[in-house]
Amino acid sequence: MNTRETINTFIDFYREHGHELSPSRSLLPPEGDDSVLFTTSGMHHLTPYLLGRPHPLGRRLSGVQRCLRTTDLEEVGDPTHLTVFEMLGSWSLGDYGSGRSLRWGHRLLLDGFGLPPESLHVTVFGGDEQTGPDVESLQTWQELGVPVEVLGPDNWWSNGPTGPCGPDSEIFVWTGDGEPEGTPSTDTRWVEIWNHVMMRYERLEDGSLVPLPQPSIDTGMGLERLLTVLQRKDSVYECDVFEPWQRTVPTLWPLDTRDHRVVVDHLRSGIVVIGDGVRPSNTGRGYVLRRLLRRVLTLLWSRDLPLLEELPLDLYGHTLDHFGQSPVVTGLTPVEIQRVVLEEQRRFLQMLDRGRRLLSRRPRGEVLDEGTLRFLHETHGLPREIVEVLSA
Ligand code: SER
Repeated sequence: MNTRETINTFIDFYREHGHELSPSRSLLPPEGDDSVLFTTSGMHHLTPYLLGRPHPLGRRLSGVQRCLRTTDLEEVGDPTHLTVFEMLGSWSLGDYGSGRSLRWGHRLLLDGFGLPPESLHVTVFGGDEQTGPDVESLQTWQELGVPVEVLGPDNWWSNGPTGPCGPDSEIFVWTGDGEPEGTPSTDTRWVEIWNHVMMRYERLEDGSLVPLPQPSIDTGMGLERLLTVLQRKDSVYECDVFEPWQRTVPTLWPLDTRDHRVVVDHLRSGIVVIGDGVRPSNTGRGYVLRRLLRRVLTLLWSRDLPLLEELPLDLYGHTLDHFGQSPVVTGLTPVEIQRVVLEEQRRFLQMLDRGRRLLSRRPRGEVLDEGTLRFLHETHGLPREIVEVLSA
């Protein structure tokens, strides 16, 4: 199943069960919401509705939402983590409860996506000092015959320190060769693909939990992880959605697998972020973008490889099309996005010149102490990894 068929199967299933398609939003949170820099989850734009405000499209929704997580940045390059990824979501806004959500989810995975029943394992919330165990979810999975692991805080979901939250039930797929072994918490070959959150509470500033007037359900499935399973690939980077990148990047830059994935992830994420209106800067969203682009620039430059003028416009275009960021929508053409990237490269090269000048005043091969490294970074914007290469 390719990406388009996978998305359609999800949306059609939920449409058949009365869910309206909620439009995809940009990576920027809604106006006036400064709780996060970027949309980190499919539910983010729905927060007011999960807290009880009526939604104009009704009480059952589905959606496909691009998300960005910087918390996973160090894991990018492994088989399952991406900076920008897409989440398939379904929501019950005060309508049905966890039993129905899990049963539908199970049916979609088996009948819609054809996953073998024995390839699934789930986890549920076992309770803590503030709330009891999620008995309904546990019973539902037991009735469906799916192996369940009962866990603690890992199965509690919130989108931040305050706001809607509740116990969740996570669905894992076995990605190892041969028969499944162990459980999600003991064997990393169980990969989480879908999370069903029972939004039952709102957490207030003082840390207390108040029950929501109408409990809701928020589910989110990582599209690229699902594709990895359906297309029997070893990593998210090998799914069809990355195909043009995988075909092109190795011909531009000879890198090992992990570096290659980091380059693909960061450049693709950078293009989407620019498409959503962000420009490199030293603060906030712009800083996240700058970090992504400079990480790639540092990686290429430190290996003496050609820089970003090599990246073909086709890859910009493919990425913008995929994320619904055509020039008609954003007012930005691939050439204009490329201009932003190359301008950032120009600033990076200026920084290198500055660094060379500063370091040329020091004895060659000098080992720089912590204080000097911090000074070079804080006063001259020279990151440690650049200084190390320049002063070697
Ligand atoms: N909000 C939950 C998550 O991001 C489910 O959508 O995992």
